[in-house]
Amino acid sequence: MGSFLINGQKPLFGSIKVDSAKNSLLPILAGCLLCDGIVKIYDVTYFEDILNMLEILKMLGVKVKKYEHMLILDCTNIQNSIIPIEYANKLRASIFCLGPLLSRLKKAKLAYPGGCSIGARPIDLHLSGLNSLGAKIIDKHGYISAFYDNMKAGEVHFPFPSVGATENLIMASVFLKGKTTLYGVAKEPEIVDLCRFLNKMGANIKGEGSDVIVIYGVSKLKGGEFRPISDRIIAGTYLMLPLVAGGEVEIENIVPSHISSLIFLLKNNSCKLHINGDKLIVSKIGRLSSLGKVETLPYPHFATDLQQPLSAVASFCKGTTIITENMFEGRFKHVPQLIKMGAKINICDSSLVIQGKEELYGAEVEASDLRGCASLVLAGLGANGYTKIKNIEFLDRGYFKLEEKLQKLGADIVRQT
Ligand code: EPZ
Repeated sequence: MGSFLINGQKPLFGSIKVDSAKNSLLPILAGCLLCDGIVKIYDVTYFEDILNMLEILKMLGVKVKKYEHMLILDCTNIQNSIIPIEYANKLRASIFCLGPLLSRLKKAKLAYPGGCSIGARPIDLHLSGLNSLGAKIIDKHGYISAFYDNMKAGEVHFPFPSVGATENLIMASVFLKGKTTLYGVAKEPEIVDLCRFLNKMGANIKGEGSDVIVIYGVSKLKGGEFRPISDRIIAGTYLMLPLVAGGEVEIENIVPSHISSLIFLLKNNSCKLHINGDKLIVSKIGRLSSLGKVETLPYPHFATDLQQPLSAVASFCKGTTIITENMFEGRFKHVPQLIKMGAKINICDSSLVIQGKEELYGAEVEASDLRGCASLVLAGLGANGYTKIKNIEFLDRGYFKLEEKLQKLGADIVRQT
């Protein structure tokens, strides 16, 4: 596994462009399985997770043509409905294929999904939702076998606004004759983007972005063109760069409303945030004060994917910051690594009590998940001395050639294989 070597405390200057959203493109790629035609997707960034999802689509019968920032997918001839473990366990998003395969081929057999080790990450809400629409589900030996059986339009009530389960049920409903109503759905921008894509391909979906989504069944989806939204988690991570390293950075291709909870959190703190359309200029004025109490909750509240990066920022702030992780029970694996760098963090149940330090120092640390790795990069950029971050492949799942982008801003960072 490769590593990053960072020599910290180099102020960052310049501009950096946010890529298209990994967590929008992943369900959209699964949604291509519903389209009996050619789909063209622009602004594509080939994160590792995207490459792995494309391997799954190819195995299912999609013809994939990759260009530098564009994908052309021929989804007219989908035959295979089985995703074996060696493909499925590479990423969580493999489970997003369940709904589309059921809709298109009336059956599916998927090995349990993989994904970052940030908790148990069950799929019970996906399965119970499909079941309540009449699908027959057999969950055995680590495989999910699903059969269309007598699926029909109906109602699904989610006890929790699961992003993936919402996406799966939307895609399982697009061809069901009549009206399917999903209650208690997730409202993330990526859900809205998926519905925008499906409607552009001929679906009839209403209510996306609210608590209730209604899908009116159509007979088929055609091909078409699409441009996904920008990645709000990458945008939030970039916004934190000058807060740890100093300097002034202009972030391009940002949707400020998608990270309004982070922007609000930093208001009146010792940093300058200037928003101009899809650009945001951020700089640190002095040492930040405590970030107070932060709770990760479903959108539009503070995103769980930014909890780990924020804990690195909080490690440099004055006073004490308390971050409570309400979404994933195993999302603190980065904490012992930050402590190795001198951070003062106590884990109390599902909260981090972070007593900020004037300075962290470089150390040899190792990543164990995507956003935890991003937190270690932030800590390394702000630390005094050299930090070596091992298992950097985790970062490549959701950030593209990050070291090259940071070098352009003046960071002293190299990738070592
Ligand atoms: C999506 O994961 C994202 N991944 C995650 O981003 C993100 O953290 C998460 O949504 C929350 O915003 C992709 O979109 C590929 P959930 P997902 O279903 O769909 C529990 C990243 O870093 N749950 O909303 O798996 C679950 O265990 C990744 O880019 C059930 O109990 O998230 C968790 O505690 C990490 N049963 C909570 O709900 C289920 O059937 C939220 O999960 C499904 C979920």
